Amino acid sequence: MQEQISALRDALTAQIGSAADLQALEDIRVAALGKKGSVSGLMKGLGGMSPEERKEMGPALNGLKTEVADALAARKDVLEDAALEARLTAERVDVTLPVMDHPAGTIHPVSQVMDEIAEIFASLGFDVAEGPDLESDFHNFTALNIPEEHPARQDHDTFYLTPDENGDRKVLRTHTSPVQIRTMLSKKPPIRIIAPGRTYRNDSDATHTPMFHQVEGLVIDRDTHLGHLKGTLEAFLKAFFEVDAVTLRLRPSYFPFTEPSMEVDVQCSFNEGSVKIGDGNDWLEILGSGMVHPNVLRACNLDPNEYQGFAFGVGIDRLAMLKYGMNDLRAFFDADLRWLKHYGFAALDLPTIAGGLSK
Ligand code: PHE
Repeated sequence: MQEQISALRDALTAQIGSAADLQALEDIRVAALGKKGSVSGLMKGLGGMSPEERKEMGPALNGLKTEVADALAARKDVLEDAALEARLTAERVDVTLPVMDHPAGTIHPVSQVMDEIAEIFASLGFDVAEGPDLESDFHNFTALNIPEEHPARQDHDTFYLTPDENGDRKVLRTHTSPVQIRTMLSKKPPIRIIAPGRTYRNDSDATHTPMFHQVEGLVIDRDTHLGHLKGTLEAFLKAFFEVDAVTLRLRPSYFPFTEPSMEVDVQCSFNEGSVKIGDGNDWLEILGSGMVHPNVLRACNLDPNEYQGFAFGVGIDRLAMLKYGMNDLRAFFDADLRWLKHYGFAALDLPTIAGGLSK
């Protein structure tokens, strides 16, 4: 009997040691310790033994059972580790490989241009500020020196919401200028921000869509002047259009929230339907700007005798059209995959001043 036990121990230990995978190991377990297994068979024999025999064989058989169970568990650990290792090797991702050959999506030109603008102004020390699309009448009009009865309210083709129980009527912001107000109310000068975002006017044709994008600029300090405005716009346009020089023309204009106000044109040439910025005999109107009106400073609790500054507002969609040669604004918002594939930008192509804005 003792010989039988030690022969079985040797055989099982050898089998367990060479089990190639978890399934083979399970088969061995069932064949040894299962109900009809070899070890269980020997244990059943204990019942027919004399008390003396049983005293000797009982512990021996239990020892065998424990030994086999331990060997099975140890082998199981080894096989599981090996299986995990094999899976890790098979599923290894080489993070140094170039990114996907066929990226599924692209960055919309408007987003790309917003990133380019933020990058340029960040290099000039501007922060990016934000405000809500759904604005109060105060931020969109009143604080910007456009009181209730002001005719400029009609110019804006405003989308109004239903007034609440107090008679307060929110508007879809008609420009990004309310972010000027929010910024001046929430932080002390010196202020240097741009505020890109969505704007809304009830207007639609080849160059106007009811939703469009603007970027606002605002600089407030003790002695900020018109020269700073011109220099900032020149630096921005040069970087944006990636040209060595731009010539600007500042034309007197009117905005209720700036005094003086000017419309800014950039020198360009039109050639077979495409525009070249930087030189030529034509002028292209690209933005509105001016020195922040004293009434606007007052509405934001700033003393006009202490602080002054400039503001500007640019249409982002228009800049994108000029830079990347698209001629119908409506296509921007049609979500036509062919258009997006053609004009979209690679997702990882983040614009940087150092790496080149548009590559
Ligand atoms: N908010 C003006 C517009 O939408 C643009 C502007 C901004 C003009 C800032 C002057 C100063 O037309």
